[in-house]
Amino acid sequence: MDNSKGKDQRGFTLWFTGLPCSGKSAVANRTAEMLKEQGLKVERLDGDVVRKSLTRDLGFSKKDRDENIRRVTFVAKLLTRNGVAVLTSFISPYREVRAYAREEIGNFIEVYAKCSLEVCIKRDVKGMYEKALKGEIKEFTGISDPYEEPLEPEILLETDKESIEESASKVIDRLKEMGYIQ
Ligand code: ADX
Repeated sequence: MDNSKGKDQRGFTLWFTGLPCSGKSAVANRTAEMLKEQGLKVERLDGDVVRKSLTRDLGFSKKDRDENIRRVTFVAKLLTRNGVAVLTSFISPYREVRAYAREEIGNFIEVYAKCSLEVCIKRDVKGMYEKALKGEIKEFTGISDPYEEPLEPEILLETDKESIEESASKVIDRLKEMGYIQ
């Protein structure tokens, strides 16, 4: 079996950030599939999944969100330095801790899934915006908790205008331009 790609592969982390229902996970999943099709070693770290295991003790205060991101950063760093293509999808609303992740991980590519709040509320996949708007969920990002937009993301997706396929292709094209993949 030819696994030369795996051996030579340069690790990197695609850090998807954005509001709830902005499409982070959907685009990250599709991008992960595309990278796997190219024979790359790929790992996904997703907020909803990680919060059931590694960070199950954490809530949504700023302190807990920062701790969530710090733990994920640790895992992403280990994988990245072992040549894996890591795709994380966390709201990660605070600029400062995203800067920490960038510094720690090294080959860090920030992907901002930009989507208007209006469209996110319309999608409301899990009905959480509705509850948050009624005041039933406190500290809900975009409604009663802040989201600090990335100022200079390496990749800007407009997920309220692009299809999942278009956004994922955009990520792949940028990875090529940046020399991470061929
Ligand atoms: S982060 O802010 O710490 O990066 P993370 O991405 O791990 O958040 O988790 C977000 C997920 O938790 C959302 O998809 C949503 O299902 C759920 N969630 C529950 N409570 C909240 C809340 N108050 N704010 C945002 N998301 C919440």
